[in-house]
Amino acid sequence: MIYYPIEKLTEAGIEEILIVTGTEHMGDVVNLLGSGKDFGCRFTYKVQDEAGGIAQALGLAENFVGNDSMTVILGDNIFENSLEDAVQNYNDDGAQILLKEVEDPERFGVAEVDGDRIASIEEKPDEPKSNYAVTGIYMFDNRVFDYIRDLEPSDRGELEITDVNNHYIREGNMKYSVLEGWWTDAGTPQSYRRANQLAYRQAES
Ligand code: G1P
Repeated sequence: MIYYPIEKLTEAGIEEILIVTGTEHMGDVVNLLGSGKDFGCRFTYKVQDEAGGIAQALGLAENFVGNDSMTVILGDNIFENSLEDAVQNYNDDGAQILLKEVEDPERFGVAEVDGDRIASIEEKPDEPKSNYAVTGIYMFDNRVFDYIRDLEPSDRGELEITDVNNHYIREGNMKYSVLEGWWTDAGTPQSYRRANQLAYRQAES
């Protein structure tokens, strides 16, 4: 499944890729992916010691990113369309996220959309304000690392990427677009099955 995010990044012209994973998977991941030469890119690897959240994992990228901006994809997100346009439209300033209409928004970060801006994002709300899930595809400038340093763990004990995104929203520095084509994560047995089916179908076509 990790091949899909990698393919989306390289297809969008990104050649320097940092992979963050836990100690239990790192050996297998390095064996599978190697240096990146088979994928037309260069991999750097970093270990996240505990399951401290997506924002904590992203914080590990600070030295790797330096003064650049970045595109982040969660390893369990797979989707049909290219990211080329989104990466090109992002002007390396502030943040940009991709939304997708779903039938079960309560499983995701949910965006309250107000015309061409996002008013707020709620993480796994009981009463979602829209059907727009925040996908695990994000673009950030390097101020993101200052925001991550200021985060407090959520009720589930994690540094939440939604809190980072809300920081950009409060500052008026968040843009969004709606992802075309299918998208799924693999966070439940059903979505994992769907992800496998979609990946298989795409490989066959
Ligand atoms: C994470 C994010 C959530 C986002 C989702 C996309 O959820 O916290 O905002 O909608 O990824 O896959 P998690 O996988 O931690 O449940």
